[in-house]
Amino acid sequence: MIRTKILGLGSYVPDRVVTNEELPYLDERHVRQATKQTETDDAWIQKRTGIKERRYVPNDASVATSDLAHEAAKRALADANLQANDLDCIIFATLSPDFHFPGTAVVLQRKLGLAGKNDCACYDIRQQCSGFVYGMQMADAFIRTGMYKRVMLVGAELHSHSLDYTTRGRDVMVLFGDGAGVAIFGPMETDDARAGIVYTSAHADGNGANDLNLKIFEINRLPYLDYDPRDREHNQLMYPHMDGKRVFLNAVRGMVMSTNTALAKTGMSWDDIQWFVPHQANLRINEKVVEVAKIPPEKVLNSIEIYGNTTAATVPLTIDHWRKQGKVKRGDRILSSVFGSGFTWGAAIFTF
Ligand code: COA
Repeated sequence: MIRTKILGLGSYVPDRVVTNEELPYLDERHVRQATKQTETDDAWIQKRTGIKERRYVPNDASVATSDLAHEAAKRALADANLQANDLDCIIFATLSPDFHFPGTAVVLQRKLGLAGKNDCACYDIRQQCSGFVYGMQMADAFIRTGMYKRVMLVGAELHSHSLDYTTRGRDVMVLFGDGAGVAIFGPMETDDARAGIVYTSAHADGNGANDLNLKIFEINRLPYLDYDPRDREHNQLMYPHMDGKRVFLNAVRGMVMSTNTALAKTGMSWDDIQWFVPHQANLRINEKVVEVAKIPPEKVLNSIEIYGNTTAATVPLTIDHWRKQGKVKRGDRILSSVFGSGFTWGAAIFTF
């Protein structure tokens, strides 16, 4: 029987570290000012979110989301001992694409040197913080059916350019960072139902669509974009909007539910799983999920303290981070559960 295995994994974060101490002093070009631009502080951010610092791309227009993805993709290819030419499909999960259309997968395809060469299929998916698990489900289906043999799944985000660096936007602005994670999947012949990708689930509830979104424009209007981006009073569509409490409650509910269902459907227990790698939205969300779902605390891996929320990138970034620290090893079994804008959520059990 054909099952899907992870052939390689890589991640990338930009060099600039923005601490909670520095963040309130940044203007909209990320330049540190003498006075606070946003009323927030390290104590509030750490207490409510667990975040200490995050990474930002340079402010000189030299880096786009596809560039973050490209760096992570090169590392994943090296880890898998593959060449870009071996890929026959790219699935790109992001809420911060290089531009509105086409999707960012084709941009990455070109940066990998594949444009016009091997007809590598390109998909962009829009499931925000759930993008990696949704993408893993797609990759698994493509490989099991024999549709594609080498699928690159990308989670990459450039948040720092689309945040509101005023007190108005502080609830969202403090949460997010830039980064990318990439996994490459391929087929293996095995009868072991616990090998490779064991299980994936993907859920959605459109009732949550207004609780966390970034509109930028409304296509039903003429003109569909009618504000001056430099006019701080009237440019609110440019920035993410969030009902933090509703997101928090639904995230805990969705991640607990999908984690417990994943165990029930596979007949597994925490004895069968080495690591729980939840989406990194807020350390307090993850602590609550761990408490309610009774997950052994020593099996929980977080990275939000140092990277913030990198949306579709959090799961591969966290796995790669802890692999570099010597904790996660090839062959370990991981359970991930995720939750994001939409609302969307899901879980996956897989052998790394
Ligand atoms: N710094 C200082 N004060 C802040 C702040 C900040 N960055 N952001 C909000 N506040 C203020 C609020 O204005 C409010 O002030 P008030 O009491 O004077 O009105 C107070 O802090 C409490 O705000 P509230 O929104 O009730 O806080 P909270 O406990 O819900 O925490 C979040 C806010 C955003 C940390 C929390 O709701 C959360 O993490 N939600 C989930 C977010 C998330 O995970 N998003 C991504 C999902 S994939």
